[in-house]
This record gives sequence, structure tokens and C-alpha cells, in this order.
Amino acid sequence: MTRKCFVCFMFLEVVCFIVIGVHGDKNLPARKISDGNYHVTMRKLQSFKTSLTRHDSFASTPSSSFAPSPSSQPAEGMNNPRVYHVTSYGADPTGNSDSTEALLAAIADATNGPSEGYLMEGISNLGGAQINLEGGNYMIRRSLKLPVSGVGNLMIHGGTIKASNDFPNDGYIIDLSTSSNENDGKNSPSSSYNFEYITLKDLLLDSNFRGGGISVINSLRTNIDNCYITHFTTNGILVQSGHETYIRNSFLGQHITAGGDKNERNFSGTGINIQGNDNAVTDVVIFSAAIGIMVTGQANTFSGVHCYNKATGFGGTGIYLKLPGLTQTRIVNSYMDYTSIVAEDPVQLHISSSFFLGDANIVLKSMKGVLNGVTIVDNMFSGSNQGVEVIHLDKSNGPFHQIDQVTVDRNVATGMNLKATVAKRSLQGNGTSWNVDFNNILLFPNLIKNVQYSLSSTGSSFPNHAIRNVSDNRVVIETNEAVAANVFVAVDQSMSS
Ligand SMILES: *[C@@H]1O[C@H](CO)[C@@H](O)[C@H](O)[C@H]1NC(C)=O
Ligand SMILES: *[C@@H]1O[C@H](CO)[C@@H](O)[C@H](O)[C@H]1NC(C)=O
Ligand SMILES: *[C@@H]1O[C@H](CO)[C@@H](O)[C@H](O)[C@H]1NC(C)=O
Repeated sequence: MTRKCFVCFMFLEVVCFIVIGVHGDKNLPARKISDGNYHVTMRKLQSFKTSLTRHDSFASTPSSSFAPSPSSQPAEGMNNPRVYHVTSYGADPTGNSDSTEALLAAIADATNGPSEGYLMEGISNLGGAQINLEGGNYMIRRSLKLPVSGVGNLMIHGGTIKASNDFPNDGYIIDLSTSSNENDGKNSPSSSYNFEYITLKDLLLDSNFRGGGISVINSLRTNIDNCYITHFTTNGILVQSGHETYIRNSFLGQHITAGGDKNERNFSGTGINIQGNDNAVTDVVIFSAAIGIMVTGQANTFSGVHCYNKATGFGGTGIYLKLPGLTQTRIVNSYMDYTSIVAEDPVQLHISSSFFLGDANIVLKSMKGVLNGVTIVDNMFSGSNQGVEVIHLDKSNGPFHQIDQVTVDRNVATGMNLKATVAKRSLQGNGTSWNVDFNNILLFPNLIKNVQYSLSSTGSSFPNHAIRNVSDNRVVIETNEAVAANVFVAVDQSMSS
């Protein structure tokens, strides 16, 4: 049944093609495929196809001294699988001997392999070629770079790569930057991006305390998925320029520990360093580093991030948003585990549905005193009764004086001082004046923008009453005669000015 339908479908497709060919392109010269010029046409088509592919790919042998096995040795035609098995290039899966050249040779073959057209202009589509690490553990002595830029749709996956003891201290195990020795003799038009749709998947990268794990430079739509990156001294992952690097389901830690490490004070380095826009980090654990995630580019989103990298009490930071004046960052559904979020002069920042444990809090740090479009709602905070505020205003560089559209509300806290921009309180009294003080809950000093109140009195008289003063976060309500009354007051600092 299925097969029959398939045949029908095929048939229809052929019919459609013919119909379009005959009636659709009236103004174009007829693409006549008669007996006479069939072979000429096919030859032209073939040479056009060839022009799209790299010339040095099929014929070249790997630059290592080992010959690749048939499984990775490309045969003629386009039917051979493009899975490049690194052991076929002589890589040593025990990690004992240097596999740098073998891995680079496999990468070079994959990169220079057949391609079909382009993704972004100037990015050759490698069709999904795979560099398969075959579950091995490989030692390398310098960064793995692609030999040319301007390629996409390529995957490196399935094994462990470890830096050698003489690996360059500023290197990255996988470095998606333009190779310094790249010759620009390519036929393809140059792209403004280095790479597009490169997938790094199921990899354990061990930087051996020499440099970093992955750097993604000026690339588009990069996947880093199910990677475990450790022993870095610089960055676990560096993302610079480009956009849409998606880091997910990954674990990063300078030291392999499960918390409570006796050397936690010495943790250094940064788990993920994002110096570009429009990236996403989702479902990622950072278990050891001085800074979990450093962000200096806009419009990035963080979801399901668990930071227990280095306790803020020891000088660590979970997520550092160092882009004052234009932040445009969302942090949701994350777990800040003894590590705080620091944001410098945030403008457009949203933090919600997250859990802060161990006196971890959110520090809004004044640089030029700007705080605009910040929403911090629906988070849970848990601390140890040390009087730590859930949101702390760091005024060491001066106070915030441009505050607008800041909403901190509906958070809950145990063992920490709750702070908010909206608050409600009731006060019972007997007399002519009710002084309701919101200083211990309101985030900003002296910034109440809206007050609503009601006065409830069961006595025999109906007093006149009015708000008399709303300064320094105190609301004063007075009556014209002494009465026993309850006042209910709601204040709001978050309205736009
Ligand atoms: C941690 O740092 C301290 C002070 O810098 C040093 O004395 C100690 O040896 C370090 N510990 C480790 C394990 O490196
Ligand atoms: C309010 O104060 C007045 C005068 O002190 C007193 O007579 C009255 O009982 C008080 N009412 C209540 C409800 O406390
Ligand atoms: C309002 O209260 C503040 C002290 O909280 C005081 O300095 C100010 O003079 C009061 N304003 C009026 C109009 O009473």
C-alpha cells in the first residue's frame, strides 16, 4: 500500500515537472533534452556540479602517514557516505600518542569534501558530513581548526579529545575561527561569517589546564550539544561575534567536582564567555569556574542553567551581565546554587522562575546609575539568615538615578531579606495619624510612584482622612479627628515615570 502510493507520488511529480517545463517557462528558451544534445547537457551539468565541489577533496590522501580505510575513502560519484572515521586517519583512540595530524586530516577531508550549493552566501553546504571520533580518546598538541572558512553543515561528534602537556595556553581544543594559514584561493564568494551550522556533539573536551574548550568566532547557527568540557583555564566555551550559537545539554567545569570542593576558592576561568548576540544557553550545568557565564553581547537567553561554579562567598559569580546600558537578556528557569547574578546598569533584563540557594542573590551594579526595563519576578530565594537581600543595589560607583520600569515582585524568600518594588501593608491605630513604613521591603529609597489606601473604622463617626506625606518610603495618613482604624496601603515603585 505504502509503496504503491509512493510510486503514484513519483509519477505525479514527473508529470508536474513536464507540465511546468512545457507551459511554465514560455519566455525562457526551451530546455530541450533531445537525443542530439542530451550528452552535452549532462556534461555541462556535471561540470557545473564539479565546480561547486572542492577539487582537492576526492583525490587527495590524508596528510597523515596512514591510509584511510574504505569506510572513509571516498569513492567516485556522490553516493559514498561522508562519515570520516578518525582512526582511519591514524588517530590513536587510547589517547597515548599524538592524534593532532590525524584529526586535522579527517577534518580537512570533511571540510574539503563534496558540497551542494550554499547555505548563507559564501558558505558551502557540506551536506551533513560527519567527523566520527568513534568513541575514542584522542590527545592533541594544538587546536583543531577547519582548514578553510566558508563551510557549513558539518558535525564533529562522539568521543574525547584531550590537550597535551605542551598544548598552547591560549588555544582551544576546537577552534572555529579562520585558520591563520588559510589560503583564499577558494572559488566561493566570501561570506561575512566564518561558518554556519557546525554541530559539536557528544564530546568530552579536556583542556588539561591549558587554554579552553571550544571557541566559536563569527559563526552562524552553531550547535554545541551534550558536551562535557573540563580542565580549562581560560573559557570552557568562547562565543565571539556571529550569532545563534546554541549551547545545550552540556556540563562545564574547570575541576571535576560535585560541590563542596576544598579548593573551591582557587577555581578560576569562565565556563561560557558570550561576546556576541542572539545566542542561547539551555539546560547547562557549570560546576566549577570563577565565573559561570560572562555575557557582553545582547539578546542572549539563558534557560535551565545550573551554576554551582564558585560560591559568591568565595568571590565567584554565576552569571555576570557586563553590558551596561543595553542588556536585553532573559534568564529563566535557572538554578543559582551559591552563585549570584551580577548585572551592570541593566537596561532590559528579565529574570524569572529561578531558584537561588545559599544566599545567592541578584546584584544590580551601578556604573552610570541606569536601571531600566528590569523585571525580576516569581523566583525563590533561600539563605542562611545572614541578612542578605535577594536583590542588592551595588552603589560603589554611585547611586542609581535613572530608574524606570523596574518591577521586582512575587518573589519568595526564606532566610534572606525580600526586596520588591511593590508592597502592601496594613496598620492598626487609634488616633489621627498612621505612618506606614515600607523601607524594609522596597528596593529603592524614596521612589514610591503610586499609592492606594483605604481606611477602615468601625467607630460611630465618619472621619475625614487623607495621605499627607509619601517620602522616604513612608506613607503618612491623617484623620481630622481621633479614631480607632485600620489602614491598608499599597505602594508601587515600578511604574514608568
Ligand atoms: C589555592 O590557593 C592558595 C592561595 O593562593 C594556595 O596556597 C593553595 O595551594 C591553592 N590550592 C591548590 C589546590 O592549588
Ligand atoms: C482609642 O483611644 C481612646 C483615647 O485614648 C480610648 O478611649 C479608646 O478606647 C481607644 N479605642 C480603641 C479601640 O482602642
Ligand atoms: C514628609 O516627611 C519627610 C520625612 O519623612 C519630611 O522631611 C517632609 O518635610 C515631610 N513633608 C511634609 C510636607 O510634611
